[in-house]
Amino acid sequence: MVDYKVTVFTTEQISAGTFNNVFIKLVGTDGESESEKLKDTSFLGHIPAGSVCNFTISCPVSIGELLLIEIQKQNFLWLIRNAWLPAKVKVQSPEGKTYTFPIYRWITDDKVHRFREGKALRVFDETHHLGKFNRKKELRMREEVYCWDVYAEGIPHTIKADNTSSLPPEVHFSFTKDIVFRWNILTRGVQMRLRGYYGNKKNWNDIDDINHVFWSKRTAISDYVQKHWKEDAFFGYQFLNGVNPMLIRRCTALPENFRVTDEMVSLHGQCSLEDEMKEGNIFLCNYKCLDEVELQEIDGKKQYLMAPLVLLHKIPDNKLMPIAIRLKQTPADDNPIFLPTDSEYDWLMAKMFVRSANFHEHEYSVHLLRTHLLAEVFAVSLLRNVPMVHPLYKLLKLHTRYTLQINVLARLHLISEGGVLSENSACNREGMITILKRSMSTMTYSSLCIPDDIAERGLGAVPNFYYRDDGLRLWDIIHSFVQRVLSYYYKNDDEVQRDTELQKWILDIFEHGFLSQAGTGIPEKLSTIHELVKYVTMVIFTCSAQHAAVNDGQYDYGAWMPNTPTTMQLPPPTTKGTTMVETIPNISTTVKGMVAMWLLSQPPSDFVALGDYPEEHFNEKDPCEAIKDFQHELKKLSAEIRVRNTSLEIPYTYMDPTEMENSVTI
Ligand code: FE2
Repeated sequence: MVDYKVTVFTTEQISAGTFNNVFIKLVGTDGESESEKLKDTSFLGHIPAGSVCNFTISCPVSIGELLLIEIQKQNFLWLIRNAWLPAKVKVQSPEGKTYTFPIYRWITDDKVHRFREGKALRVFDETHHLGKFNRKKELRMREEVYCWDVYAEGIPHTIKADNTSSLPPEVHFSFTKDIVFRWNILTRGVQMRLRGYYGNKKNWNDIDDINHVFWSKRTAISDYVQKHWKEDAFFGYQFLNGVNPMLIRRCTALPENFRVTDEMVSLHGQCSLEDEMKEGNIFLCNYKCLDEVELQEIDGKKQYLMAPLVLLHKIPDNKLMPIAIRLKQTPADDNPIFLPTDSEYDWLMAKMFVRSANFHEHEYSVHLLRTHLLAEVFAVSLLRNVPMVHPLYKLLKLHTRYTLQINVLARLHLISEGGVLSENSACNREGMITILKRSMSTMTYSSLCIPDDIAERGLGAVPNFYYRDDGLRLWDIIHSFVQRVLSYYYKNDDEVQRDTELQKWILDIFEHGFLSQAGTGIPEKLSTIHELVKYVTMVIFTCSAQHAAVNDGQYDYGAWMPNTPTTMQLPPPTTKGTTMVETIPNISTTVKGMVAMWLLSQPPSDFVALGDYPEEHFNEKDPCEAIKDFQHELKKLSAEIRVRNTSLEIPYTYMDPTEMENSVTI
């Protein structure tokens, strides 16, 4: 007889343990063992969370190189079925070789589950028929449980799931995250209801009264916003380092519908607009995606949303100052160009309409479409097309963590009819879909790759642009890491072309994420290692850094409602004298918007920072070392960002890698 020493690791998550019986069978190139019951358990056969259980499987003769293990969980006597979340299984063979089988998946039923050894294999690396067979079987099963659905025509497809319980257990929130998430929703909502703000349809008497709801949850930046929200320099600053750094671009020629003249603007000197455009000092933000979208009523009142154009000037002290605003796209007598020389009230109102437009552009186009929905497409296509043993699965799995569940929750509670976001924004659901559809045309491949995006928008030389500075550094660090891992597995371009699973993943994203629109520039196939590395960098960057940049500051910049009105109750003034409090959201809408932004920018429980891979899917030396070096580089960047921030009036923390998550989880 020969002995195989088996060690079973259960994850440390609460409720990861099981009272059920667990059986393990080893399958090798020359045979297989009996299915043996795991005996080294605690009282009553319990396998606790975080436990390490050892036992021995004996075979008459060696079964050769180990290919996979079979795990089956069976109910123990009368006890109800009880899920189990194993981490990995290690096996020491009689020949002295150690094999590791990564699992990190809930086992909920009593079926036989097969897990491959940890060495990454592409489809053409498979030499044994059992490996080939299980690879196909795994993908067939995944295609059945991860199905595409169409939430609305013209926008990226989603996972088919009516609610979170219809998602496969392997993509569920952990127990801790689920509880904290529900607790946050409950407590914040109850607090506001108790104080009588929910359902209070009255207008604010005075802007300062908003302080009554602003009291309990403040951040250093939300306090700064409250003090400075009226200032032009702060208004300009937010286009670079606020929650939406994606709209601003260098202006080289004024649009037809925004003919600002030298007579209108004072450029802090004698220069002309033309000269300043040539110097690269003029910038434009055009909210044309919001033009004439379908609007709704809130508390019986029609709501208003503009589609502004904003012209900004970089002045000699490096501040970005707004110099002209037109609130609607079509020039008309009742659509004037507002200027800083207008009355203080008119200019402030124009800026508030821009900030309200920015809320819609940011939430729907930048945050929802370009991070949440895209990350979901990346996740579903990975799960459908790439088996666990593939290096891409091992590299990307943790960058898809919790994304499917958070997006299902968003569709149920945030952007649904009566959802927290849709209920308090100016547009109705059709309006939201219109914005998303229009924004699809701006979601090009190059706009998702920050070096290309910054170059295309002409923002390479803009001073004090921390989203760009930190984002480019992060892109380079992620790119180096991805290059190191993938070039370990792919030795030439031919291997990329021959990897049918990889190519199917790419095609699925092209078809379901970009709706087969070749004009977006998103590849439908990859030909070289260079292309693959860039693409995978884009995926990781989008799921981590980009999402953090457009998500984590929502409360900072949105809590003080006048800086981010979620809707407007009156059209822009065409005559003077309209009071501001009649135009901004009423008490109930203000509070609901504030609660939504608070929930969306909560530090997540069960946090996994960018570069942390608590699930050990790789067990080869090179990728494991690449992960360590990646983490080291991220820590170095974090330290540099922290030092830089000490000298900034407003610290830019959203792209600090130790503060951002590996995936879209909130
Ligand atoms: Fe988010």
